[in-house]
Amino acid sequence: MNDPTPQKPQKIDPTQTLFENLFEFSPDAIVVTDENGRIRNVNSQVESAFGYTRAELLGLPVETLMPERFRTAHPNYRGSYSAHPSVRPMGTGLELLGRRKDGAEFPVDIMLSPMETAGGQIFLAVIRDVSERKRAEEALQQLWISKEQTEGELRRLIDAIPQQVFVFDADWTPLFANQRELEYTGLTPQEAQSKEAVARIFHPEDLNQLEGLRERVRSEGAPFEMEARIRGKDGQYRWFLIRDNPLRDEQGRVLRWYGTRTDIEDRKRAEERVRQGEGELRQLIDAIPQQVFVFDVNWNPLFANRRELEYTGLTPQEAQSKDAVAKIFHPEDLKQLEGLRERMLSEGAAFEMEARIRGKDGQYRWFLIRDNPLRDERGRVLRWYGTRTDIEDRKRAEEALRKAQADLAHVTRIMTMGELAASIAHEVNQPISGIVINGNTCLRWLAGDSPNLDEAREAARRIVRDGKRAGDVIARIRALATKTVTVKGRLDMNEAIREVVALARDEVRRSGVTLRTEFADDLSPALGDRVQLQQVVLNLVMNGVQAMSTVEERRRELVIRTQNDEGDQVRVTVQDSGIGIDPQRMQRIYDAFYTTKHGGMGMGLSISRSIVQDHGGQLWAMANDGPGTTFHFTVAKHH
Ligand SMILES: Nc1ncnc2c1ncn2[C@@H]1O[C@H](COP(=O)(O)OP(=O)(O)OP(=O)(O)O)[C@@H](O)[C@H]1O
Ligand SMILES: [Mg+2]
Repeated sequence: MNDPTPQKPQKIDPTQTLFENLFEFSPDAIVVTDENGRIRNVNSQVESAFGYTRAELLGLPVETLMPERFRTAHPNYRGSYSAHPSVRPMGTGLELLGRRKDGAEFPVDIMLSPMETAGGQIFLAVIRDVSERKRAEEALQQLWISKEQTEGELRRLIDAIPQQVFVFDADWTPLFANQRELEYTGLTPQEAQSKEAVARIFHPEDLNQLEGLRERVRSEGAPFEMEARIRGKDGQYRWFLIRDNPLRDEQGRVLRWYGTRTDIEDRKRAEERVRQGEGELRQLIDAIPQQVFVFDVNWNPLFANRRELEYTGLTPQEAQSKDAVAKIFHPEDLKQLEGLRERMLSEGAAFEMEARIRGKDGQYRWFLIRDNPLRDERGRVLRWYGTRTDIEDRKRAEEALRKAQADLAHVTRIMTMGELAASIAHEVNQPISGIVINGNTCLRWLAGDSPNLDEAREAARRIVRDGKRAGDVIARIRALATKTVTVKGRLDMNEAIREVVALARDEVRRSGVTLRTEFADDLSPALGDRVQLQQVVLNLVMNGVQAMSTVEERRRELVIRTQNDEGDQVRVTVQDSGIGIDPQRMQRIYDAFYTTKHGGMGMGLSISRSIVQDHGGQLWAMANDGPGTTFHFTVAKHH
């Protein structure tokens, strides 16, 4: 051990047990003591390390083996150890010294372990001479500390690397700091080597964290890392990445901490800029006058902007729950939304809908809902980005416009019917005259001694038929005269036109016009409002009749045709042989109040066009090859 001459290998003594041999052969010195600290046994390594013979030591206090100045305190340590005996190193953190018989001292590590025997408790102390290691450490320390003495390559290297480099002892007392640290902090080497150096240069907020971390890693002996602000000599703080790694001995005790501090100010600034950028974006998103959302692929809300929370009064937690929509969407619209989402989930396409959403005041307002998918490279939907735009005011305006148009349409309808008054009267009159005639006939068949009941019954049947016809005409007139609300449904266009023709029939005849219909037998049902579309047809018929009123040199002929159009529409055309339309004025005829007629209001085509467009169709006029004009309009089919 301490002896420079290597020991000769010992011979196993066959008279001893295996354990006695092991004891003897251990590379470490082993001292066995009793409860009172008296030496009961030592191995040969003790003899060579301490210069005593075994016989000399037996029965002596164990303190014999340590320097005199430690001897008085030692029994106390022994006492507290035997109160809580366990296998552990002795005097952690202390510099332990052994003392040879000749008075020489040497550094040691000591492991203690208690042992129960039949003769009571004994203690084993395994003592290792660590002189060599200490010398090496001291040499190393010397190398670090005295710059003047060691202008070595390593030293220059360490000063040159672009980090601050440190060595601390186990208690965080700085043993060394490289040149860069001194340059940055402006500390003198003496200041840098004081334990308070960190307190002087660390930002107070970060110092707490550092101290907490050091406290924790002191027991764990684990490396650690943190970010902290360190003040430079110009008084400005910069961010550093602090990294400390422990150097341990064979027993795991920390001997040194090796630390580096890397300047990360620029990185931190960049991060800060990004964060600020995010903050601005966030503010922007909160400020825009729409509700903005992010959902995951399954419509779980991930984000909602402030406007959403303000409008709905939901808490951020509520807004982020999947049933938030159920809470705030109008039940009727919720179904549609869910249907759409279901469909979009498989198709991954953007969608748009209008829905009522309840505000925190309990009132619903109309919103335009728009959701767009974000996909990965393979086209899978990752997120849904959604906006909700308040369209309540637009909806109200649309509603008001629709109402105004409906009112206007109603008024012009009544006026057109006023023009048709004679024709209508004729239409109602005919069945009524029929009823009177058949009533008289019926009475005649019933009079006399032998009434002809069969004939009377037949006449009564005709009365019923005519009564129904008159009733139907009146019902139609009433429908045209009173209805204002749009109700679209499945509509047989041929049938609707026939009713209009019936009302105008007498007027047409009195104007000397022959009216012909060419209806498609296989005409698809249209989707529309019967009364409104009848109004369109009625206006076209009346315009045609009026355009032919001055025509003398040719036949006055009106042809109404229906046909299935390519695509999804039903087409109606009304062809006259009238005076035609001046090509210059072709576009103006649809303007409100444009008329060339004496009693005309000029509203007919304007209203007709908005009705047709509301039915997903078009209204236009074309000059015939011969004289006259043909008007066309289309209406969406019913599915
Ligand atoms: N078949 C047609 N032949 C020639 N001119 C026509 C024809 N249809 C419409 N016009 C022209 O277009 C104008 C506007 O027609 P519109 O139906 O809008 O109004 P109006 O018939 O004059 O009045 P009302 O409001 O009573 O219908 C007519 O005054 C007429 O000059
Ligand atoms: Mg008209």
